[in-house]
Formats: sequence, C-alpha cells, structure tokens
Amino acid sequence: MPEQSPELLRELHLLTRGGQLNADALRKLKQVNHLVELLRPALEDAWARHGSPVVVDAASGNAYLGFILYELWLKPTGKGELWSVEARPELSERAKERAARLGYERMRFVTGRLEEAQLPPRIHLLTALHACDTATDDALSVGVRREADHLAVVPCCQAELARQLQEGRESLPEWLRLLSRHPLHRREVGSQLTNAIRALWLESHGYQVTVTELTGWEHSLKNELILGRRVHRESREAQQKLHRLLLEVRLRPRLVAPPALGPG
Ligand SMILES: C[S@@+](CC[C@H](N)C(=O)[O-])C[C@H]1O[C@@H](n2cnc3c(N)ncnc32)[C@H](O)[C@@H]1O
Repeated sequence: MPEQSPELLRELHLLTRGGQLNADALRKLKQVNHLVELLRPALEDAWARHGSPVVVDAASGNAYLGFILYELWLKPTGKGELWSVEARPELSERAKERAARLGYERMRFVTGRLEEAQLPPRIHLLTALHACDTATDDALSVGVRREADHLAVVPCCQAELARQLQEGRESLPEWLRLLSRHPLHRREVGSQLTNAIRALWLESHGYQVTVTELTGWEHSLKNELILGRRVHRESREAQQKLHRLLLEVRLRPRLVAPPALGPG
C-alpha cells in the first residue's frame, strides 16, 4: 500500500534486507492489507463514536495485523489502543519488543489464552485472523461479552464439528450422515456448519452479519470473512433458528456451550 513503510515490513521480516518479498510474505501481506481495507468502515465508525477506541486482535501470532493496522490507522489518527492476545509467550514477547523499537506506544500485549485474557471491559472492534479451530469461537465470545461494536473473524482449520460428526454418526439425521461419510466431506460440512452456527449465534446476540471472501482463493484456502456489526441487544428469532438448527443436526459446538470464561 502507498502509505506502508518498508521499515515496518523489514522489522516484521516480511521484506528481506534486499527489499524483496518472498512468496509467503507476499501472500500474508496481501491478506492482511486486504483485511485492513475491509475493516475501514468499522474503524471509521468506532473512531467517530468513541474518544478512546479499543481494538483487540485475538490469537495474534506475530501480530502482523496489529502492526499494519497501527501503521495505517492508529498512528495517523493519533488515538485508540490496539491489544494483541496470543497464547505463545515467545511470539507475544517478540511482538512486544518490536512495538517498543517502532515506538508504537498504544500497542498492548497480553500473553495467554483468550478465555482468561485480562482486557478492557469495553471493546470497539475485535479481529481474529486464522485463530485455530475453536479459538475463533473464544474470540467471538470475548467480543460479544464485551459488547464489541464490530467483529471481524477469518476462521482457520475447523476440527470440532468434524469430530462430532464422526463420533456421533449413529445419531445423525440420515441426510447429514450421507453428507459427511468421507473425511474430506466431513471437514467441509463441519466447517460450513460451524460458520453458519457462528453467524446465527452472532445474530442472536444482536449483530448484523455479513459473510464474504477475504482475498482470492489462490492466496489462502482459509478465506471466509465473517463480519458482525452490533445493531441491537439480541434477536429471539435468530435464537430460535439456531436452537432448531442444533436440534436438527444434533451437534453441540463450544460456541453455544462454552467453558466458563475467566475473570478478565
Ligand atoms: C494460525 S496462527 C494465526 C496468527 C495470526 N492471527 C496471523 O494471522 O498471522 C493462530 C495463533 O493463535 C494462537 N492461539 C490459538 N488458540 C489460542 C487461544 N485460545 N488464545 C490465544 N491464542 C491462541 C496460536 O498460538 C497461534 O499463534
């Protein structure tokens, strides 16, 4: 992007010393830049409505998204905080050191699992890019619990419902048993159901949901972007639809039966 500095890309090791982007770095950068573009309406809305907007990047890994968001949005607007939550201490520590070197003073780092993370009581935008399996659900739970105005998740590999489809296949309705007989189909059906349940669950909590592609499929197979915008408190209609769907498929995803969240 024109506003993007080579210094940051070099610090993130996306750009080599010779100024080159290798194929993996280019793929990642394209995904992240595209996501930042798609987040602009949510950022503009949060920045217009709140004096000190809080963005949380859940399961942030190397925090590429956080750094790029900071450079392209938080730095020029001069306000807001960006919180990165990551379970692996070595990634979190490295990102923290990078932020200090770059002088990104409004970046905060929480090392630990999302379920227990100590975060501000109110979040304005929550993002989760490729948070593994049910970590996307934990991110959504954190965002909804803190009444995030906007949510944006790009789910990663999804094993939870594929496993339930396998273990509980005797009790599945016949159409679902037939759709999920083969491991590859089981993964796909499990993933489709997981995201459909996530969308309904968000609607039931008062979010207007848009499901779209992040980038072209040639850049990543994990390419579904689920956007939520909080429009009211809750929807009984969506709750009932979700209830009926879960009864029909006889599955029990973590999102609707989550473990108790910690005090954070
Ligand atoms: C596939 S990486 C994606 C990282 C980053 N968002 C990105 O797109 O580059 C998933 C990350 O989620 C972290 N993670 C998985 N479960 C988590 C949890 N429950 N709480 C916090 N982090 C988690 C992993 O340690 C890993 O760094």
